[in-house]
Amino acid sequence: MSTRSHILSTGSYLPEKIMTNHDLSKIVDTSDEWIFQRSGIKSRRIAADDQSTSDMAIKAAEAAIERAGIQPSDIDGIIVATTTPDQTFPSVAVRVQAALGVPVGIAFDVQAVCSGFIYALSVADNFIKVGQLKRVLVIGADKMSSLLDWSDRTTCVLFGDGAGAVILEARDGAEDGTGVLSTHLYANGGMRDLLYTDGGVSTTGDSGHIIMHGREIFKYAVKLMADAVNAALDANDLSADQIDWLVPHQANLRIIEATAKKLSMPMERVIVSVEEHGNTSAASIPLAFDGAVRDGKIKEGDLVLFEALGGGLTWGSALLRL
Ligand SMILES: CC(C)(COP(=O)(O)OP(=O)(O)OC[C@H]1O[C@@H](n2cnc3c(N)ncnc32)[C@H](O)[C@@H]1OP(=O)(O)O)[C@@H](O)C(=O)NCCC(=O)NCCS
Repeated sequence: MSTRSHILSTGSYLPEKIMTNHDLSKIVDTSDEWIFQRSGIKSRRIAADDQSTSDMAIKAAEAAIERAGIQPSDIDGIIVATTTPDQTFPSVAVRVQAALGVPVGIAFDVQAVCSGFIYALSVADNFIKVGQLKRVLVIGADKMSSLLDWSDRTTCVLFGDGAGAVILEARDGAEDGTGVLSTHLYANGGMRDLLYTDGGVSTTGDSGHIIMHGREIFKYAVKLMADAVNAALDANDLSADQIDWLVPHQANLRIIEATAKKLSMPMERVIVSVEEHGNTSAASIPLAFDGAVRDGKIKEGDLVLFEALGGGLTWGSALLRL
């Protein structure tokens, strides 16, 4: 009998402060019209100066734990996907562990930028499948505002802050076809100069700011994410019309629409939160997923496909039945 990872619950957190496109037009030479037309973004949340990535991650985790009806002591693994840790070390994951009172177990961060949540989910799923962990808290959390050059209109209008979490639980037997069915991860370091920070601890000594070649990323994003989705469909002998919900990385509405079109998926079956969240990097998929679960859109039994692409380039997909 094989062991699969099941989604026990979801949770998320968004900082209070809402920054609209209009607010941004007072800081840089831009407009609500330009930002909305090119990206589909209307507003984003921005964390307070004294609010760190772990503060947001802890709130998302608390919501997921409460909804699961479990105790922190029931968790034996914490994996946080983030590019914006509170400190260079230790990890955000151990901060979450300490804050929640999760007993000694496995806790570490994964860094794959906007694909981070799918990477973290895949790592957790594999730990569960080999029997090493039973209940894993998987979090995507980022304070992207801390990496922005607020005078660079080509990047500062696109990103936001937030955190999302899921709890994965090991269950034996997969007769009902539920659980994480597959994950597909990819990276091509040859494309790392398309999206990067111009700093780092072992080079400049600081985190640097985001530099992005938006037009090129756009081109690759649609193709590579559609490829990752097709890999998931092929591996499970499914076609796109059998997917109930596509939960894409929320970077840009035009990329989401173009990818859905390439897969012949109607937008009615695509979860979109980019309008109000902007690109929250590793938090984007779990935030959108949690919102759709809580809205009652995504229900038990639904076949759900995640897909993302981020700096690296990294990309991937995860298919699951709730
Ligand atoms: C970034 C993005 C929205 C830009 O849209 P675009 O249609 O490619 O626009 P361009 O970069 O070609 O810029 C067009 C013009 O708008 C200007 N512009 C750029 N940012 C602007 C802003 N915030 N406000 C107003 N004008 C802006 C540019 O300077 C350029 O002016 P020019 O024609 O006089 O040189 C788009 O390329 C994109 O979404 N790319 C993918 C980014 C992404 O998803 N990144 C994250 C991956 S995880």
